Amino acid sequence: MTLRFLDVNILTNGMGGNKMIIEICVGSACHLKGSYNVINEFMDITKERKLEDKITIKAAFCLGNCTNGVSVRIDGGDVLSCSEDNVQEFFEANVFGRL
Ligand code: FES
Repeated sequence: MTLRFLDVNILTNGMGGNKMIIEICVGSACHLKGSYNVINEFMDITKERKLEDKITIKAAFCLGNCTNGVSVRIDGGDVLSCSEDNVQEFFEANVFGRL
Protein backbone atom coordinates (compact mmCIF):
# COMPACT_ATOMS: atom_id res chain seq x y z
CA MET A 1 0.00 0.00 0.00
CA THR A 2 2.79 2.42 0.84
CA LEU A 3 4.58 1.85 -2.44
CA ARG A 4 1.38 2.38 -4.38
CA PHE A 5 0.81 5.63 -2.52
CA LEU A 6 4.26 6.75 -3.61
CA ASP A 7 3.10 6.10 -7.16
CA VAL A 8 0.44 8.74 -6.58
CA ASN A 9 3.11 11.22 -5.68
CA ILE A 10 5.00 10.37 -8.85
CA LEU A 11 1.87 10.93 -10.88
CA THR A 12 1.34 14.27 -9.19
CA ASN A 13 4.70 15.74 -10.17
CA GLY A 14 4.16 19.21 -11.54
CA MET A 15 0.96 21.22 -11.39
CA GLY A 16 -0.88 19.26 -14.03
CA GLY A 17 -0.78 21.76 -16.89
CA ASN A 18 -3.71 20.96 -19.15
CA LYS A 19 -4.15 17.59 -17.54
CA MET A 20 -7.38 16.64 -15.83
CA ILE A 21 -6.80 16.76 -12.09
CA ILE A 22 -8.59 14.08 -10.11
CA GLU A 23 -8.47 14.56 -6.36
CA ILE A 24 -9.35 11.56 -4.21
CA CYS A 25 -10.05 12.11 -0.54
CA VAL A 26 -7.88 10.28 1.95
CA GLY A 27 -9.47 11.92 4.97
CA SER A 28 -10.41 9.62 7.84
CA ALA A 29 -13.99 8.86 6.74
CA CYS A 30 -13.02 8.18 3.14
CA HIS A 31 -9.97 6.23 4.24
CA LEU A 32 -12.26 3.89 6.19
CA LYS A 33 -14.38 3.46 3.06
CA GLY A 34 -11.39 2.34 1.03
CA SER A 35 -9.95 5.46 -0.55
CA TYR A 36 -6.51 3.88 -0.93
CA ASN A 37 -8.02 1.06 -2.95
CA VAL A 38 -9.94 3.61 -5.00
CA ILE A 39 -6.69 5.51 -5.68
CA ASN A 40 -4.97 2.30 -6.75
CA GLU A 41 -7.83 1.43 -9.09
CA PHE A 42 -7.79 4.96 -10.55
CA MET A 43 -4.07 4.59 -11.15
CA ASP A 44 -4.49 1.15 -12.71
CA ILE A 45 -7.15 2.36 -15.13
CA THR A 46 -5.07 5.43 -15.99
CA LYS A 47 -2.07 3.24 -16.79
CA GLU A 48 -4.05 0.58 -18.64
CA ARG A 49 -5.58 3.24 -20.88
CA LYS A 50 -2.24 5.03 -21.24
CA LEU A 51 -3.74 8.25 -19.92
CA GLU A 52 -0.84 9.30 -17.70
CA ASP A 53 -0.25 12.35 -19.87
CA LYS A 54 -3.90 13.39 -19.58
CA ILE A 55 -4.75 12.69 -15.96
CA THR A 56 -3.12 13.74 -12.70
CA ILE A 57 -4.27 11.83 -9.64
CA LYS A 58 -3.85 13.59 -6.33
CA ALA A 59 -4.64 12.62 -2.78
CA ALA A 60 -6.73 15.23 -0.96
CA PHE A 61 -7.84 15.64 2.60
CA CYS A 62 -11.45 16.01 3.64
CA LEU A 63 -13.51 17.36 0.74
CA GLY A 64 -16.52 17.99 2.99
CA ASN A 65 -18.65 15.12 1.72
CA CYS A 66 -17.73 12.52 4.32
CA THR A 67 -21.06 10.70 4.52
CA ASN A 68 -21.02 9.99 0.78
CA GLY A 69 -17.32 9.14 0.37
CA VAL A 70 -15.09 8.09 -1.11
CA SER A 71 -15.13 11.69 -2.30
CA VAL A 72 -13.64 12.60 -5.65
CA ARG A 73 -13.30 16.02 -7.26
CA ILE A 74 -12.43 16.56 -10.91
CA ASP A 75 -10.82 19.83 -12.00
CA GLY A 76 -12.07 21.61 -8.89
CA GLY A 77 -15.73 20.88 -9.68
CA ASP A 78 -18.43 19.33 -7.57
CA VAL A 79 -17.50 16.67 -5.07
CA LEU A 80 -18.59 13.30 -6.42
CA SER A 81 -18.94 9.93 -4.75
CA CYS A 82 -17.08 6.80 -5.71
CA SER A 83 -16.56 3.42 -4.09
CA GLU A 84 -14.19 0.52 -4.50
CA ASP A 85 -16.95 -1.31 -6.36
CA ASN A 86 -17.71 1.25 -9.03
CA VAL A 87 -14.43 2.83 -10.11
CA GLN A 88 -14.79 1.63 -13.71
CA GLU A 89 -18.34 2.96 -13.88
CA PHE A 90 -17.17 6.22 -12.31
CA PHE A 91 -14.52 6.62 -15.02
CA GLU A 92 -17.05 5.93 -17.76
CA ALA A 93 -19.55 8.40 -16.33
CA ASN A 94 -17.22 11.19 -15.24
CA VAL A 95 -13.78 10.92 -16.81
CA PHE A 96 -13.55 9.41 -20.29
CA GLY A 97 -16.07 11.79 -21.84
CA ARG A 98 -14.20 14.84 -20.55
CA LEU A 99 -10.73 13.96 -21.85
S1 FES B 1 -13.10 12.49 4.84
FE1 FES B 1 -13.46 12.40 2.70
S2 FES B 1 -14.93 13.97 2.40
FE2 FES B 1 -14.48 14.10 4.50
